[in-house]
Amino acid sequence: MRILSGVQPSGKLHIGNYFGAIRQFVDLQHKGHGLYFIADLHALTTIRNADTMRELVFDVALNFLALGLDPARATLFRQSDIAEVAELSWVLSTVTPMGLLERAHSFKDKTAKGISPDHGLFAYPVLMAADILIYHSDVVPVGKDQKQHLEITRDIAVKFNQTYCPGFDPATGKGGVLKLPEPMIMDDTAVVPGTDGEKMSKSYGNTIDLFGPEKETRKRIMGIKTDSTPLEAPKNPDTCNVFALLKLFAKPEELAEIRAQYQKGGVGYGDFKKRLADMFFAAFGPARKRYDELRNNQDYVHQVLRDGAARAREIAVQVMDQVRAATGLR
Ligand code: ADP
Ligand code: TRP
Repeated sequence: MRILSGVQPSGKLHIGNYFGAIRQFVDLQHKGHGLYFIADLHALTTIRNADTMRELVFDVALNFLALGLDPARATLFRQSDIAEVAELSWVLSTVTPMGLLERAHSFKDKTAKGISPDHGLFAYPVLMAADILIYHSDVVPVGKDQKQHLEITRDIAVKFNQTYCPGFDPATGKGGVLKLPEPMIMDDTAVVPGTDGEKMSKSYGNTIDLFGPEKETRKRIMGIKTDSTPLEAPKNPDTCNVFALLKLFAKPEELAEIRAQYQKGGVGYGDFKKRLADMFFAAFGPARKRYDELRNNQDYVHQVLRDGAARAREIAVQVMDQVRAATGLR
């Protein structure tokens, strides 16, 4: 089974990203052949500074490796290292109806906000389809916000196969050059709250970053918003942001003990926060150490990306050859 997903290099990772997405990616590397790429071509639609781009792309690679992605098992690479993706994207755009792209949320949301869209943003789902289809991906794990993009990918693949593959059967997906991928929508029922109790998101400035400096991280944890129940009084764990975060880290017995402390009273929020900070550093300590080591070993990280690109290209070249043959480009 070939598992593929892409991650935009859009900034520092926080614990919401980890529990909501990255952890699943890392776990999936044991279930099949994982191909994970850093979507730098996609990021061009928002990042317009060369140094920022290089830095963010490198940081995603560091993050993945520090968090346990094993380059001997999974393939980690940079999207733009596979030139065939851009070629396939063009071919696909010639079978993609305008209406399909006009209905895309990503495009509609931006235009509704008054942002004047460029062609890159409009064509974004076609490039994403090329990302997926060029590796004959079986399964594509993504967050709920990307579900529509996967439906568009399947629509484009069907359109291509119907146009160019006489034996194609849309009901079974058999007989086509392009393989129809299955979406795997990651569980987002557990939305990780930020320090203000809203969904943790870098756009809200309420994050606890995975690899931030220790002092700053402790400060952010100590600053989590709580109510003003006095230290002695019983507290409701189920409405408390600190408890919601403790749940991510504590073992069941430990969590039961903390719950009892909340309900009994006599322990202040400050103590629960300190406990959370300790659990955070215990959980991410090894990854943070590895992150620092990798930062000082940039050659290794670049080598991983080069090796990953070579492996990904082997697949991409074959699929692109079939596409060229089917369309008469060769
Ligand atoms: P942000 O909101 O910080 O910009 P992204 O939209 O880049 O984060 O999300 C990257 C991935 O992390 C997505 O798969 C998303 O579902 C997941 N994710 C982001 N924030 C959270 C959160 N607070 N709780 C759970 N998952 C999250
Ligand atoms: N669009 C995805 C996002 O913003 C990233 C992405 C690009 C992707 N190409 C992909 C995800 C292919 C899965 C498969 O999160």
